[in-house]
Amino acid sequence: MSEKIKYLAINGSERRDGNNAKALEWATHYLESFDVELEVFQLADAVIDPCGACGDCNFRSIPCEQDDDAARAVRMMEQSDGVIFAAPVHGYGLAPRMAAFLERVGTGFLRHDRNLTNKVAGVIVTGRRMGHMAAYTQMQQCAMLNRMILTGYGFPAILFGDQKGEVLTDVEGMEMTRRMLDRMVSMTQLLKEYEKLTGKEPLPVREPGERHRETGDGRYHVPQKPDFSTLKKSKQ
Ligand SMILES: Cc1cc2nc3c(=O)[nH]c(=O)nc-3n(C[C@H](O)[C@H](O)[C@H](O)COP(=O)(O)O)c2cc1C
Repeated sequence: MSEKIKYLAINGSERRDGNNAKALEWATHYLESFDVELEVFQLADAVIDPCGACGDCNFRSIPCEQDDDAARAVRMMEQSDGVIFAAPVHGYGLAPRMAAFLERVGTGFLRHDRNLTNKVAGVIVTGRRMGHMAAYTQMQQCAMLNRMILTGYGFPAILFGDQKGEVLTDVEGMEMTRRMLDRMVSMTQLLKEYEKLTGKEPLPVREPGERHRETGDGRYHVPQKPDFSTLKKSKQ
């Protein structure tokens, strides 16, 4: 990874120039003052379909084969030092583009090797009035499951606003966003410095993924699909 800190933001809004875009534009300028680069991946410009009906993610050991932009987004996250998940509230919860994104990259790719381990994560939610925390929690869980280091201090970066750009007038929300960005940068600097000074990987993890099981000789294997063929049919 290069010396210069690079973050990727996933904008889960339908609106390319909406509140999330405005908040991320602000974040881009703010991060520039620390010489940190922020690239925004707009889900509105990408094709990422929800999971299909195959349902074999728990048992397959190869990434999802759906031919869309999910794999590209995963590569971009892997090449960054940290990821900001930003999305609006839709229908009291997470907007559907972001929900589909988390589902696909999570089950189809990241679960295999947890390649986002120890990258810093930030979460931003915008909404007119209600449901921010439900959306926040969903993205937060994604960060934690992927062994990322979730940052922030004070209240979460939830922004109130409906019309395009309105969130920038939510003074307290923007202050929380600024603090979260400060914390992201400090944490990335800390991790990089540790690695440089000690030559050691910070926060090493033993298990490649939560589906891996120890074999007893220090190695891990992924359990194979269970064989249900011997189960007796239940009485009708
Ligand atoms: C289909 C739809 C559903 C929405 N549902 C909610 C909601 O449940 N709660 C809320 O506070 N805001 C809701 N909103 C408002 C958006 O969350 C708000 O305008 C947000 O700032 C939009 O961000 P964006 O401009 O980045 O898309 C909804 C907006 C749309 C278009």
